[in-house]
Amino acid sequence: MRIVTQRSLGGPEVLEVVEAGKPSAGSGEVLIRVRAAALNPVDASVRSGRLPLLGEPPFSIGWDVSGVVEQVGPGAGFAVGDEVYGLPGFPFGQVGYAEYAAAASQQIARKPSSLSHAEAAALPLAALTAWQGLVKAAEVKPGQRVLITRAAGGVGHLAVQIAKAHGAYVIALAGQPKHEFVRGLGADEVLDHYSVDFTEKLGDLDVVLDANAYGERALRVLRPGGVLISILQHRDAEFAQRVQDAGRRFAGVGVEPDGPALEAIAELVDAGKIRPHVSRLLPLEDVTRAHQLLDEGSTVGKIVLTLGED
Ligand SMILES: NC(=O)c1ccc[n+]([C@@H]2O[C@H](COP(=O)([O-])OP(=O)(O)OC[C@H]3O[C@@H](n4cnc5c(N)ncnc54)[C@H](OP(=O)(O)O)[C@@H]3O)[C@@H](O)[C@H]2O)c1
Repeated sequence: MRIVTQRSLGGPEVLEVVEAGKPSAGSGEVLIRVRAAALNPVDASVRSGRLPLLGEPPFSIGWDVSGVVEQVGPGAGFAVGDEVYGLPGFPFGQVGYAEYAAAASQQIARKPSSLSHAEAAALPLAALTAWQGLVKAAEVKPGQRVLITRAAGGVGHLAVQIAKAHGAYVIALAGQPKHEFVRGLGADEVLDHYSVDFTEKLGDLDVVLDANAYGERALRVLRPGGVLISILQHRDAEFAQRVQDAGRRFAGVGVEPDGPALEAIAELVDAGKIRPHVSRLLPLEDVTRAHQLLDEGSTVGKIVLTLGED
């Protein structure tokens, strides 16, 4: 099978497509014939060595997949031919951008039937991050005022829609050229994070999803008892303590694979409440170009690699 691998740490140019043996489904696993694989900022961090999740190269980065079950191991609750999507093996397993992936069945779910594989692959890591913050940790409720930062990005564009699907009033931060896109996701207000100091415009919020390490500034706009979801400072115990001392709740999220949550997300997708946005769809062979775009850091929605027909 074709798989993207790297023999050294570095920029996008270290990525190469090679031939490798096909994995097989172990106990409780399925083998997925992958049709699409999405990129996330964490992939670039591992590729470059900033985040050494996979040790020393050679290794294969990438975890978001959508495809078709080709083989079912003992005790795995899927059937051959099922269309599935998920985040298998994250963060320490090696799945890679590859034609096949072995996946623990509790780390995947049936793919939303209304989406292509490319769209479904765009969901798992980003949607689970938003879900684990907004739904599981903050338990966002109808009428609550929620701030979504980096709202045009992978996590943000899904977070806006997940918060709206739960009845929240959503205020979003994004660069001016992306405001129309973010309003189209359902955001009630959009502020330009480059020209406006949101701490001067906002206050008394119920929930902030901080995808930008705003730290104290995010804390300042929360009401007493409000929830600060942090996905960049989630391991900062000192900051977490400061949030608690200020009478707010700290919810640090390090995203985890979660089949049941992916099922709930798929239901919302098929009900027309969430739609992932794929801004760049590239063939596997263009993985270096895809990572150059990822490194620019201004992605709208998601960048996805295709592996054959959709
Ligand atoms: N803890 C976890 O489990 C977890 C999970 C997922 C992601 N993350 C982290 O969360 C962050 C967001 O992830 P993502 O997948 O949404 O990223 P992404 O898709 O790459 O985010 C792209 C968006 O970020 C905005 N942006 C870029 N530079 C910015 C800046 N200086 N200030 C404000 N906005 C800026 C851009 O919008 P504009 O052009 O409008 O500025 C762009 O649309 C990343 O750092 C990622 O590593 C953590």
